[in-house]
Order: sequence, then C-alpha cells, then structure tokens
Amino acid sequence: MLGYCPCIMCFESKKVSRIMKAKVLVVGCTGQTGSLIVEQLENNNLVDVRYCSRRQEQVNRWQSEGKDAVYLDLNEPRTFGIALAGIDRLFILTGYTVDMLLQSKTLTDAAVKAGVSHIVHWGIFANWDCTEGHFAWH
Ligand SMILES: NC(=O)c1ccc[n+]([C@@H]2O[C@H](COP(=O)([O-])OP(=O)(O)OC[C@H]3O[C@@H](n4cnc5c(N)ncnc54)[C@H](OP(=O)(O)O)[C@@H]3O)[C@@H](O)[C@H]2O)c1
Repeated sequence: MLGYCPCIMCFESKKVSRIMKAKVLVVGCTGQTGSLIVEQLENNNLVDVRYCSRRQEQVNRWQSEGKDAVYLDLNEPRTFGIALAGIDRLFILTGYTVDMLLQSKTLTDAAVKAGVSHIVHWGIFANWDCTEGHFAWH
C-alpha cells in the first residue's frame, strides 16, 4: 500500500512507498504454541506483533526490550480495550477449561468492537459425531 510519510520534513506531500504493516495481537505468546507463532510473525515483514501477558512483570520486560507489549488477562474483559487498540488481527488461544467459552466470546466481541478485521482462534475439530470429550466440546 502506498502511504505518506508523516514527518514534518516530508510535509510537501512527497509520496513514499512503504508497506502499511498489519498489527497482530498474539494471546498466549509466553507459552509453547504462542511463542512459536510469535517467532514466525517476527520474521514476516508484513506484520508487527503486539505481545500480551497477564503477568505485568513480563509485559515490563518486553517493553524494556522495545517490544509493543500490553497487559491482558482473559478473565478480565476490562483489560481488552487497551490491548486491542490499533489491532488489525488477533490470535486467540485459551486454556482448555470451561472458562474458554467466556474468554473466547468476550475477547471476540471486544475485538469486533475495536475493528479487528481478522481473528484466528486456536481450536480443534473432528467429525460431527465424535464422542471424544476434547473434540465434542468444540
Ligand atoms: N481453547 C481451545 O479451543 C484450545 C484448543 C487447542 C488447545 N488449547 C489449549 O491451548 C493451550 C496451548 O498450549 P500451550 O502448550 O501453548 O500452553 P502453555 O505453554 O501453557 O501457555 C499458555 C499461555 O496462555 C496464557 N494464558 C493463560 N491464561 C491466561 C489468561 N487468563 N489471560 C491471558 N493469557 C493467559 C499464558 O500466558 P501468561 O502466563 O504469560 O499470562 C501462556 O502464554 C493449552 O492449554 C491447550 O489445552 C485450547
């Protein structure tokens, strides 16, 4: 996409060709799954990653490394608004407990409100008549 450089030196409407990167919020990026996803995204020139954790000390650590990082607790919907501000895409990962329903719904609803255009939810699926608990739940 073509954009305009916002700096005052370029104010004379000099067109600059630069890529407008999509901002991706990755839930669970301290975990096994999320850390691999973040690693892949960090090597992708088309996206910028926003890290999040429910542990403030981890958020502080990322921020001190110059990363875009925010506090987000899936059990605290009031933390979603700031975490989602300016986000284009969202990766949702939850633990496998009954809480996942509320966590996924509230975060998805907040993402829609925030104008997020693409959501990937970490899940599983099987044939419709599968009776194994993990799959039937989904
Ligand atoms: N829900 C589904 O549809 C589904 C489908 C497949 C797998 N899973 C589950 O997905 C998980 C992925 O496995 P994994 O090996 O990557 O897990 P893991 O290494 O235990 O990592 C879990 C991640 O979730 C984050 N997290 C947990 N509770 C949170 C909360 N309340 N708010 C914000 N972040 C929270 C943790 O972040 P911090 O500790 O840094 O906050 C951590 O980064 C497993 O629990 C698996 O059962 C779920």
